[in-house]
Amino acid sequence: MTFLDELPEPFFILAPMDDVTDTVFRQIVADCAKPDLFFTEFVNVDGLQSPGRAKLLHKLEFSQKEKPIFAQLWGLKPENFKKTAAEAKAMGYDGVDLNMGCPVKTVIKNGACAALINNRELALEIIKATREGVGDDFPVSVKTRVGFTTVELDWVEFLLSQKILNMLSIHGRTAKQLSKVPADWDLLGQAAAMRDSLSPATKIVGNGDVMSRRQGLELAKKHNLDGVMIGRGIFDNPFAFAEQSPWADFTKEQKIALFRKHVELFVETYRNNERRFETLRKFCKVYISDFDGAAELRAEFMKTETPQEALALLAGL
Ligand SMILES: Cc1cc2nc3c(=O)[nH]c(=O)nc-3n(C[C@H](O)[C@H](O)[C@H](O)COP(=O)(O)O)c2cc1C
Repeated sequence: MTFLDELPEPFFILAPMDDVTDTVFRQIVADCAKPDLFFTEFVNVDGLQSPGRAKLLHKLEFSQKEKPIFAQLWGLKPENFKKTAAEAKAMGYDGVDLNMGCPVKTVIKNGACAALINNRELALEIIKATREGVGDDFPVSVKTRVGFTTVELDWVEFLLSQKILNMLSIHGRTAKQLSKVPADWDLLGQAAAMRDSLSPATKIVGNGDVMSRRQGLELAKKHNLDGVMIGRGIFDNPFAFAEQSPWADFTKEQKIALFRKHVELFVETYRNNERRFETLRKFCKVYISDFDGAAELRAEFMKTETPQEALALLAGL
């Protein structure tokens, strides 16, 4: 038993998105409509256990508002997973997730993330090392895809057969498909059925193309899933986890006020410029949308180069 057993059924997770779901944005989402669980962006364990560590530590920042929260780890060396997982536990994280789904070329060419789908021996070593780092009672999960080049549900079967994971989040596409075709939720239902026979204690979380809580509830029910993870849907609606989202009625002023709050928190959080200002540009499409002049304002925002310039622009509206 872990706290995962006490979450609502189904529970909702904000998907990890690199350069997007940092502590700042997670706090914004928590204030709008909090999911049941947060994940950090993926953090490289081999980098963390190297002299480059200091540069990555900001990715592991979180506030109490974001709890419960999992640290998402990626990398290659099992011993670095073990060390980092133990550190994450000591930092107050509620669980550790292992990224075995990211299909980005620079990442998979070294054999990490989605490439582990084709290297089950190393995948298992990594899971076991992580487990050793945190002990039996601490949640360990994997986030993956339904296959690498083609659908390979024996990968899911392999993971479940180990009976070692507290949770398995599955994005309903192969690595090769990137995000180009619709996610196949029937496959996620098949994964849930496998779980029932192979590892009943493992929570199965579905991911891919969910835009709202309501849609997630329907999919979870239809496919017998314990949880639903929403990623890009949050760009369309920061209240994606709300039972009744007020976002459609938000005025331009309310949207800009929320963006200012985001930028102000960014400034407060990264006082030593730990994070590139450019990452803020990704949020234009969240807050500056669906009002008159939005496209022009986004173009203006893209020209700003510091948080101070951005705040000055938003203050003048
Ligand atoms: C900008 C961006 C960054 C992402 N970064 C990560 C990451 O760090 N770790 C991870 O497991 N998945 C990452 N993903 C994948 C998402 O977590 C999610 O699996 C994918 O977007 C599909 O879900 P969605 O259709 O709800 O967006 C990222 C996706 C996007 C769009």
